[in-house]
Amino acid sequence: MPQTRPKATQKSIKPIIRALQGCVDARVPFWFMRQAGRYLPEYRILRQKAGSFLNLCFTPEMAAEVTLQPLRRFDMDAAILFSDILVIPLALGQELDFVEGEGPKLGPLDIDKLTYSETKIEPIYETLKIVRSQLEPKKTLIGFAGAPWTVACYMVEGQGTGHFSKTLAFAKENEEVFDRLINKVADATVRYLSSQIQSGAEALQIFDSWAGLLPADKFQRWVIDPTKRIRSALKHSFPEIPVIGFPRGAQGLYADYAHETCMDCIGLDTGVSMEWVAREIPPIFSLQGNLDPALLLEGGKKMEEETRTLLEKTQGRAFVFNLGHGIIKETPPENVAHLSDILRNYSR
Ligand code: CP3
Repeated sequence: MPQTRPKATQKSIKPIIRALQGCVDARVPFWFMRQAGRYLPEYRILRQKAGSFLNLCFTPEMAAEVTLQPLRRFDMDAAILFSDILVIPLALGQELDFVEGEGPKLGPLDIDKLTYSETKIEPIYETLKIVRSQLEPKKTLIGFAGAPWTVACYMVEGQGTGHFSKTLAFAKENEEVFDRLINKVADATVRYLSSQIQSGAEALQIFDSWAGLLPADKFQRWVIDPTKRIRSALKHSFPEIPVIGFPRGAQGLYADYAHETCMDCIGLDTGVSMEWVAREIPPIFSLQGNLDPALLLEGGKKMEEETRTLLEKTQGRAFVFNLGHGIIKETPPENVAHLSDILRNYSR
């Protein structure tokens, strides 16, 4: 049974929130996934000062500064909290470390022992409060979490392998046990995102980066169902807070995802064409996406042309311009400045 979207009682003055509420304004608002990070020299300086990535995430003054850095340069319409999707396993009691040059490493997983405690992740709420107090009134503060499937992939695999074959095999052979893990992560995520809203997040994005690894029946069970539960719980307590769902790699299943989870906005990756989206995802859903990050890395004429094509193809739709995935760390900041200029000066 498809869910219904609550109507916002009042339209916001913030361009991103307006687009998420379904407004089609003359200027298309924008932000970029991974807009804070290693492609920025000022990030690399603070990152070195912090010593470790997790120390940077858990030192509110530094994390707030890193959150705001890209806006100072590029004047995007939103700041996204600087943190990581893997703080949820940490709050559930699984050990987490980010190894230099290798990425995340998680400790052994004991599903029945996982218990959610906010103590370790409390500094994140302080970061949100600081950012919100420093943000101009027209800018939106976006909070986020990983979707249960993607977070569970790292919890079972212990690291990011890209194929997550161990997780897929474990889930297939132990469906009920895996359901328990998904449910624990989903419950923790509702509490975590609720606290983010209470600390100043004005919109949320749920990253399901590995959604594309699942076949249709399992996509329903481990992507759609838990995401729907998270959305319903948040909608019940915070009906005015828009949520963006990003089921990366979902391809044809993007349509089922939209209809069933009833996100306010569907985050598109580069694997779906706007023609397909126009046919399959009705205008009640706002859209976000989906310039190829490789084009931003390359910059120049081709990026310019593809950006204009994307803006034309989304004419008439409530739309937030973004990339199809995160900024690649080798991207020259000048290219991000160039793209931001095009977007700031475009009017439809
Ligand atoms: O600017 C922003 O978008 C906000 C911050 C943010 C980070 N991670 C910072 C980060 C967000 C929204 C994320 C989400 C995230 N984290 C996802 C979902 C989005 C996606 O990329 O698919 C995933 C899968 C993770 C898990 C994760 N975090 C991995 C696999 C890695 C290592 C890979 C790498 O790029 O090094 C991270 C580390 C991480 N998260 C960094 C940043 C800036 C780099 C760490 C560093 O600075 O040393």
